[in-house]
Amino acid sequence: PATTTEEPGGRVLIAGVPLDDIADAHGTPVYVLDEAEIRYRCRTYRSAFPDADVHYAAKAFLCRGLVRLVDEEGLGLDVCSAGELELAVTAGFPPERILLHGNAKSPADLDTALRLGVGRIVIDSASEIARLAAAVGPRGHQKVMLRVTPGVGAGGHAKIRTGTDDQKFGLSLRDGHAQHAVARVLGQPQLELTGLHCHLGSQITGTKPYLTALRRLVGLTARIRDAHGVVLPELDLGGGHGIAYRPGDPVLDPTALARRLRAALAESCAAARLPVPRLLVEPGRAVVGPAGVAVYRVLAVKTTPGRAFVAVDGGMSDNPRPALYGVRYAPRLIGRRSSAPTARTTVAGRHCEAGDILAEDVALPADLRPGDLLAVPVAGAYHLSMASSYNLVGRPPVVAVRDGAARLLVRRETLEDLRARDVGL
Ligand code: LLP
Repeated sequence: PATTTEEPGGRVLIAGVPLDDIADAHGTPVYVLDEAEIRYRCRTYRSAFPDADVHYAAKAFLCRGLVRLVDEEGLGLDVCSAGELELAVTAGFPPERILLHGNAKSPADLDTALRLGVGRIVIDSASEIARLAAAVGPRGHQKVMLRVTPGVGAGGHAKIRTGTDDQKFGLSLRDGHAQHAVARVLGQPQLELTGLHCHLGSQITGTKPYLTALRRLVGLTARIRDAHGVVLPELDLGGGHGIAYRPGDPVLDPTALARRLRAALAESCAAARLPVPRLLVEPGRAVVGPAGVAVYRVLAVKTTPGRAFVAVDGGMSDNPRPALYGVRYAPRLIGRRSSAPTARTTVAGRHCEAGDILAEDVALPADLRPGDLLAVPVAGAYHLSMASSYNLVGRPPVVAVRDGAARLLVRRETLEDLRARDVGL
């Protein structure tokens, strides 16, 4: 749904709320979330996967307001720490619809998961099996999945590819690692293995890697049936569905993905004479990414012999993604209309390092000046959830907009917040 409108004077409104009004009311940088867009994305997933469980990957962004919304839209949650889990459950999310991930779950992660009654724990390594079984106790019971690496490399950047054999997540299908772990899990009566899990990587724009992984996981499911007589009822293909950061970027359409997955699942299960397991998917970015906008104020402009720089009041502390993965964004001037020609411009952050660049070499009006507002679209996923307080700059607030009204979800981190943690002298 196109909820962004632009007035002739250059003001940009989301869900009927002018972004410059939000900047004035809450200060900058500020993150704005379009509630209708998030709901629309949740519903798109629910109708694309009517017979699957869609778990929103909370690591993309989490706050209590969003937990409520995801619950209302009928999605599950994927969390990967006691912190995410506690926040979700205390905001009222049903724990049985939550699954817990992590390659290095702390005792607190496991204790919290068991205490709150999390739906599924995804075992990530062989060493976790005995630890988890002990934590559950001989008279306890916990549903678990087993994360495997199907040997499929996919994702927008090397640092976010997780389906290959040689990395820190999961158990390899090669050399019997996964099968050995399956046998050990099945040997623990208090652990109920419901299925295999894989997460190939993030910002994947093609369906092929998912289809390859699916076939390999069905293959292992059949081998488990043959070896142990156990038919696993679930199959989790993780998240990673790619979105467009700039107009024209390729995306992974959830409806097309769902259709192909359903067909491939039916076909490979029939070939292996297996009942079709219940599918789980875990999109994070695709649910919230396009629904978020970051708004910055320009603090300084300068030109070098090579280019024009515009420096804003945020940067790698609220959006580390350009520095980490070289992601390219398309910032735009909001709040006024400029008739100046465009110039190739580099939008720099405020932090004390040269790599703190939010957007390199983008077309922006040549007359940008301090006080102007820049909006960075597609800022809803993995900005604030990975934010830091680098240079003791407090993290920005989050404002939700809906039907012409704005509502603060997360307040700005203040200097008092930052100072309060510093208890020694
Ligand atoms: N499931 C598991 C087990 C995951 O590890 C992840 C992401 C997801 C689901 C959701 O992936 P998504 O649909 O959001 O792509 N910080 C990086 C992304 C790393 C994601 C790690 N795991 C970024 O800014 O792009």
